[in-house]
Amino acid sequence: MTDIFSDANRRDPYPLYDAMRSGSPVLQVPPPFNAWLVFDYDGVKRVLSDYDTFSSQVPAPKNWFIFFDPPRHTKLRGLISKAFTPRMIVTLEQRIRQLSAQLLDQAVGHGEMDLADDYATPLPMMVISEMIGIPAADWPTFTRWSDAILKLSLSRSGEVGAAEAMSAFGTATAEMTAYLADMIAQRRALPQDDLLTRLIEAEVDGEHLDPVDILGFFQLLIVGGQETTTNLINNALVCLFDNPDQLAHLKARPELIPSAIEEVLRYRSPLQWMMRTPKHDVELHGRLIPTGALVLAMIGSANRDPKQFRDPARFDITRDPNPHIAFGHGIHSCLGAALARLEGRIALSDLLARLKDLRPASTEPWEPRKALHVHGPIHLPVRFQPSNHC
Ligand code: HEM
Repeated sequence: MTDIFSDANRRDPYPLYDAMRSGSPVLQVPPPFNAWLVFDYDGVKRVLSDYDTFSSQVPAPKNWFIFFDPPRHTKLRGLISKAFTPRMIVTLEQRIRQLSAQLLDQAVGHGEMDLADDYATPLPMMVISEMIGIPAADWPTFTRWSDAILKLSLSRSGEVGAAEAMSAFGTATAEMTAYLADMIAQRRALPQDDLLTRLIEAEVDGEHLDPVDILGFFQLLIVGGQETTTNLINNALVCLFDNPDQLAHLKARPELIPSAIEEVLRYRSPLQWMMRTPKHDVELHGRLIPTGALVLAMIGSANRDPKQFRDPARFDITRDPNPHIAFGHGIHSCLGAALARLEGRIALSDLLARLKDLRPASTEPWEPRKALHVHGPIHLPVRFQPSNHC
């Protein structure tokens, strides 16, 4: 059987998705992966949103509310939404622009950079750290924890490295717990204008978040807020380099940047799948998926379903409507979508405005990122005309 996780397939999973979707859109993958994959738009939407049938309680860190079902999920999402508001995200815009400008200032004179390492990775890390309220001096420690958390998702279960990843995650969690306890104490004594303070103060029906929930959310933000946004930025450039007509069109009409970002989210979705597990045996497209099985809702494939998108293999920055589900669907849909969109738009606009004649520096096929559910390159070497800072 084809290795759906080979580098070539992870770089370009779309022919495989097309074959699956047009055959039986539900595929059972045997152990060691041992999962049921759902490939069509309607099926994926159902798996993501029908929480009475498909539970989010998959084997995963215990205190991340993304893996909770109602009613606990509803309560936590309500509390977190009080702190994580659209207004708060709008206030971040100026700061994101400054951070983006700082990163580009360091690069513009060189005429080349690794867009992934030098821009698309640090930018979301800095934004999320600032938003949480982590002082810049602690960012290297934060990066180390974040690596440990990300590595958890790198290994297929049973594979060499899985045990080490688990142990590194345990160490990072212990360090973060201590760090966070200290920060919570500081914020209680002296509230700040940051997310942590608002999380501590958030209240629904007299209930607050406890430190374990805050730690879980903190970890979830690290994963949810960084790797995904890094891939959105990298993938935007991959898509535009692969489609020079669209790059030229966007340069001529930068007002299309928001629409281009939506198309990147659809065309190369940063998260290719989300996990669920049936609470009872369920039939989907004529296949019986047993209780407790691992189901992967293949978002990346759903977003290329010809029943939903005209000419789905065409990257079209003017596509309208574009009802992609890159941010999920239903009660778990992404809380950070507005922030991710904002970062993506600022990044693309700054990169095109400041790096003249931006082009790929390598013709080698890009190496996919390690985490299997994530889509995008580890490195993205680019060239451009060197220029002065301003
Ligand atoms: C391009 C970037 C991003 C993509 C593609 C993305 C994608 C997703 C998806 C598909 C889900 C649904 C999970 C499910 O159904 O099980 C989700 C949930 C979530 N995302 Fe994002 N995300 C992105 C950026 C962010 C950012 C920047 C943040 C925070 C700063 C964030 C925070 C969250 C949280 C907290 C949830 C859980 C919501 C819940 O379970 O109720 N995400 N995201």
